[in-house]
Amino acid sequence: MDAATVRPPEALEKYRSVLDETMRAIVPQEPRGLYDMLRYHLGWVDEKGAPVEGASAGKALRPTLCFLTCEALGAPCAHAATAAATLELVHNFSLVHDDIQDGDKERRGRPTVWSLWGVGRGVWAGNAMRVVADRALASGSPPMAQRKQAALLLTRAYLEMIEGQYQDLEFEGRGEITTGEYLEMISRKTGALILCAVELGAMAAEWDGRDGGALRLWGIHLGRAFQVRDDILGIWGNPTVTGKPIGNDIRRKKKTFPVVLAYERAQGAAKHALLEAYGSPELSEAQVERVLDVLEELEVGTASQALVERETEQALESLQRVGPLLFPWAHGQMVQLTEFLAHRDR
Ligand code: IPE
Ligand code: IPE
Ligand code: MG
Ligand code: MG
Repeated sequence: MDAATVRPPEALEKYRSVLDETMRAIVPQEPRGLYDMLRYHLGWVDEKGAPVEGASAGKALRPTLCFLTCEALGAPCAHAATAAATLELVHNFSLVHDDIQDGDKERRGRPTVWSLWGVGRGVWAGNAMRVVADRALASGSPPMAQRKQAALLLTRAYLEMIEGQYQDLEFEGRGEITTGEYLEMISRKTGALILCAVELGAMAAEWDGRDGGALRLWGIHLGRAFQVRDDILGIWGNPTVTGKPIGNDIRRKKKTFPVVLAYERAQGAAKHALLEAYGSPELSEAQVERVLDVLEELEVGTASQALVERETEQALESLQRVGPLLFPWAHGQMVQLTEFLAHRDR
């Protein structure tokens, strides 16, 4: 896989307008103070509530997966619109709260909700984002029988996300984390919603599940690759491209995959530096620099990207298995999306 030649698939843009329209219909107008925080986070208005064009929105990965899976299984993408919009809202709920827990002041190139309105309002903004999504899925377009099942799937997925976020916080206060523990944590905090996007897309297409689980496996491996790549970008990414602050994961003692690997590999002075940094109540800037040096010395960036590539290969193998059952255009887009995400820079 050649990083330079993997272009973003058109699917990442194709569903934007229907997604946007569906989400705008879900987010209430009043009371303005509360819902303007949601609209701000979603990139529709500025901090004063005035409409803005082209303010940064997210990549819309989860809705894209949902729409694409639905189309790949032979149903019109419109069948997946409500599910896709609710996935994106739930994802954004997780981000509003994630920025509070991680103490991050910037996301998508703009100040975060809590940094503008405070933690208290940020908590309620996040909760409102989730609840309007729940309400939309419970009352939206899928036929009645599916609605309950879809709502249950989504709720289970975001409960798992919450469990993963809790583990992520717990790991900040611990030293060594095993690769197994790390993988379990990310499969919850990030993987659950990504897998759910595939499952809801299949449900919207009324898919009978005829693939031996290969479609789900695609989602599982994609979720892992996505978070490990996110960990890499959080340390070595370009903040003007990612729109997120750099180095904060180290400052917060996050057990991202490069750090987990460094703990595993370090010996002597490098191990001493890690133990000293992660053992202090707060990392000084000098300690942050030292940890970054250790990560370089141990070449854990390259090793982390190797895990991204392995998970990506496994995701592609799963897609190949289910390929004969999928519509060719959508299948091709799923392959391209999987390859693109392994090398994304934002
Ligand atoms: C960020 O997700 C949080 C993770 C689960 C890694 P995205 O990278 O999908 O965020 P946006 O929506 O594109 O900003
Ligand atoms: C990802 O958290 C998981 C969720 C947001 C649920 P991160 O803390 O790793 O994501 P970013 O890097 O802030 O987007
Ligand atoms: Mg974060
Ligand atoms: Mg986090």
